[in-house]
Amino acid sequence: MRRLSREWVRIGWSLRYYHTFTWLGRPILQLPEDLMRIQEVAVSIRPDVIIETGIFDGGSLLFYASLCETLGHGRVIGIDIEIREGTRHALRDHPLAGRIEMHEGNSVLPETVASVASRIRPGETVMIMLDSHHSQEHVAAELEAYAPLVSPGSCIVAADGIMRDLADVPGGETVWATDNPSVAALSFASRHPEFELRPPQWRTNVSQLGSNVTYWPDAWLWRRTLNLDS
Ligand SMILES: C[S@@+](CC[C@H](N)C(=O)[O-])C[C@H]1O[C@@H](n2cnc3c(N)ncnc32)[C@H](O)[C@@H]1O
Repeated sequence: MRRLSREWVRIGWSLRYYHTFTWLGRPILQLPEDLMRIQEVAVSIRPDVIIETGIFDGGSLLFYASLCETLGHGRVIGIDIEIREGTRHALRDHPLAGRIEMHEGNSVLPETVASVASRIRPGETVMIMLDSHHSQEHVAAELEAYAPLVSPGSCIVAADGIMRDLADVPGGETVWATDNPSVAALSFASRHPEFELRPPQWRTNVSQLGSNVTYWPDAWLWRRTLNLDS
């Protein structure tokens, strides 16, 4: 399963399989299995706020907003360096608009981080998805900037570490073998003992499987609930 999954993911990515999905009518650049897993996590955490860097056409922001709507709880804050007019209008006019906030700007600029942080009320549970620029340097900067906002027991996800397996497929780049979000997440985890790097626990499993098809390997950083200083 692991070997076949690796090749299926590599070939599918090369053929742009991930670019064939929409959520509530808006393109969403994700592998459906990852969305199923993050849905399980959101149901278990019940976040007050889901922050996502990288809005693109808005499908993923709508996905998280519709989870909040179904849970009857929570809102999403999306950040993108350029929010296209069509996307902005589609999200503003959407029935889920009341659960969506947007910020246009470079995700790692201090003013962007401060603007997002100012929208979080004391005691709110925060979960974060990093899906903007996928260089190791940018994701590392996002992790340093946004991880302090993550609530104990919640997580921050550095999406698309699968780039490390795509360096040699058509459309991939050689540098991705070492320059990718997983490298940033592994480095962050080694320097931040208050976070644990591990995939989410499955809510149900009657199989012998222990790992799943994903674009997000070495991506999930969980904020420990223990106070390591005590
Ligand atoms: C992979 S797409 C996001 C896909 C989206 N989350 C989805 O699932 O459909 C990456 C997005 O990040 C944005 N982006 C690139 N660099 C950025 C930066 N420095 N700060 C914020 N957003 C950035 C791009 O404009 C693009 O819309």
